[in-house]
Amino acid sequence: MLRVGFLRLAFILGCALCLSAQEQYRPQFHFSPERNWTNDPNGLVYFDGEYHLFFQYNPFGDKWGHMSWGHAVSRDLLHWTQLPVALPEENGVMIFTGSTVVDKANTSGFCTGGKPCLVAVYTGHTPASNGKKALQTQNIAYSNDRGRTWTKFSRNPVLDLHMSDFRDPKVFWSDEGKQWVMAVALPDDHKVQIYGSPNLKDWKQMSDFGPAGATSGQWECPELFPLPIENEAGSRWVLKIGLNPGALQGGSGEQYFIGRFDGTRFINDNGPSQTLWTDYGKDCYCSLTFNNLPKTQPAVMMGWMDNWQYAADLPTEPWRGQMTIPRKLTLRKTAGGLRLVQEPLDGLSSLRQQEQRAAGTAVSAVNKLLSGQQLSSRHTADINVSMDLGSAQAVGLKLLDAGGSETRIHFDRSSNEISVDRTKSGETGFSREFVGRVKAPLRLEGATLRLRVLVDADSIEVFADGGQVAITSLVFPHSGAETLQVFAEGGDPGKISVQSWMLNARR
Ligand code: FRU
Repeated sequence: MLRVGFLRLAFILGCALCLSAQEQYRPQFHFSPERNWTNDPNGLVYFDGEYHLFFQYNPFGDKWGHMSWGHAVSRDLLHWTQLPVALPEENGVMIFTGSTVVDKANTSGFCTGGKPCLVAVYTGHTPASNGKKALQTQNIAYSNDRGRTWTKFSRNPVLDLHMSDFRDPKVFWSDEGKQWVMAVALPDDHKVQIYGSPNLKDWKQMSDFGPAGATSGQWECPELFPLPIENEAGSRWVLKIGLNPGALQGGSGEQYFIGRFDGTRFINDNGPSQTLWTDYGKDCYCSLTFNNLPKTQPAVMMGWMDNWQYAADLPTEPWRGQMTIPRKLTLRKTAGGLRLVQEPLDGLSSLRQQEQRAAGTAVSAVNKLLSGQQLSSRHTADINVSMDLGSAQAVGLKLLDAGGSETRIHFDRSSNEISVDRTKSGETGFSREFVGRVKAPLRLEGATLRLRVLVDADSIEVFADGGQVAITSLVFPHSGAETLQVFAEGGDPGKISVQSWMLNARR
């Protein structure tokens, strides 16, 4: 009896330990599926008080395959409840990336009971087999019960060019053209095609955009949306396009174009060779904005926090893949032209706990105030830093320092560059492509570095220049790496002030 009791206790204790080791990198305020593989966010839409996040999902394992739309809902974009798979692979046809719209006027004829319904538009992918090449087509499905159950349209596909690479439809209602508009990629041609439809079933091609900007890999996950210009009455359209491989930092990444959309065509404001990058890290891909947000809410975008170079090798289980923090968007007028501005959604501050402050002019004195536990034991923090450069050549932050590992955020005044160095960030051996330092141009206003930094178990998101520069990086720190320190090189900084909070959204 006693022996059985002891064994059972040992088992329970052992399992508790093994579970916590497995979940060591579990994001605490970013979405990750409870188990298995995810890549791109899909079908982001706000409807009836809920934000819906669909996502590329393999229900059967932690590697890419059997692609289906997983599903989660949230009332605040921070606390997510995962629901059963929304759109499963069926008859050998995988459900690739796409978008969801709210059909308010029942243009599709799918909505019942005089109420709006949800219509998902996605790529059906039939893999190559028996000497037949792969086929990608655009398809639709609808839901009359707030996205809980879905019916695939009986006359799918709605768009078929008999091509192997034709994917990732982004659909929205266009007030300009009084019809539905779809932006969809021809990945190998480096083109985004624009189609129009009165009913989501019959589509007519209206225009093509591209090639332009960066074209060294496939074009995927196009996004077309309007944004207001900060402190002005005007607005412009943004056409964002995923590039894989060949992005700025290697592997997958995203570029954007700014221009006008007249209901049928996107007209680039800049020359075709100008390339603007949405994010200077390696880990933000196929980002998507939410359809149907209340008019009072700014545009919100979230991306897959990963890179195809090493996505299959990340040392997490029982899940693999996660999303970025939802980011509110605007455009800002700069000397170089209009630029995308991204900042963490405002609601994030509601998760803040245990405020800590440190201020001073000497690095050692500030670090003394910062010593002790600065990050939560799950390695989470929301950090605001301001550092006057003084006579220093470089200033920055050293994070997650334990057992010889650390991650550095470094601003260099002579090159006007900010970098995130994860060379020694902890567990890095799973891929050579993961190791290294990413850099972004950063012109300071005055001589003060101001950063907002989000740290969450296995990621660091840096927002500099009031959101004009975003750098998203996965990191896998050793346990106990709960530190936050400042540093200065080649001279003495002026005033330093650090304010940080721990964050948690997991129940
Ligand atoms: C981008 C992508 C999309 C495709 C999906 C498949 O990450 O390759 O183009 O629809 O992933 O999972």
